[in-house]
Amino acid sequence: MSFTVAIDGPAAAGKGTISKAVATKFGFAHLDTGLLYRAVGRRTLQGMEPIAGAQALTAEELEQGDLRTAEIAQAASKVAVIPEVRAALVDFQRAFARRTGGAVLDGRDIGTVICPEAEVKLFVTASPEVRAERRFLELKAKGSDVTRDQVLSDVKERDARDADRSTAPMKPAADAVLLDTSDLSIEDALAKAVEIIEKSRPAKP
Ligand code: DC
Repeated sequence: MSFTVAIDGPAAAGKGTISKAVATKFGFAHLDTGLLYRAVGRRTLQGMEPIAGAQALTAEELEQGDLRTAEIAQAASKVAVIPEVRAALVDFQRAFARRTGGAVLDGRDIGTVICPEAEVKLFVTASPEVRAERRFLELKAKGSDVTRDQVLSDVKERDARDADRSTAPMKPAADAVLLDTSDLSIEDALAKAVEIIEKSRPAKP
């Protein structure tokens, strides 16, 4: 039986952490769909044309190297504007969502475009300042020499590009539950997400 949890929201709102944790808790598979766009973005940084890059993408590439750099994030957000790039990635995501045993997908358009039929839809958000601080600490811990201001302006630039594009813009589905993590600890945010998912889970026979 399939059961899909769609978790959308802007960069560094906590969707990744929440998605991984709920997947582990409920025994669901997890797909961070941002990695697909990041892998295509990386290909463009290597000189490849984005649509061809998306069409030739392999699942193995998602595991190779560090896709979570600031440079690749910007490249990902740029290729994500191109409708043909998005179209090339739809089937893979939908197949993942409907696999037996349950799946959590996190991204920007999971509840609106990829899985409008998802059993649970969450839109996880936080203020740009809180998100930039989280991302800054993450990048710092990896040895990056970015500044807080740089990260904040990157986050805002990406938000604007992701929300304003005409194909599959980032926005909550009409029936998504909003979860603002600005003033929540990871544990509290996770507890809320678990509570919401529990409500929609079919009762065990
Ligand atoms: O979630 P992330 O920061 O890894 O995503 C990187 C970029 O990929 C993001 O700025 C926009 C794009 N993206 C998207 O357009 N749709 C998704 N479902 C996931 C990511």
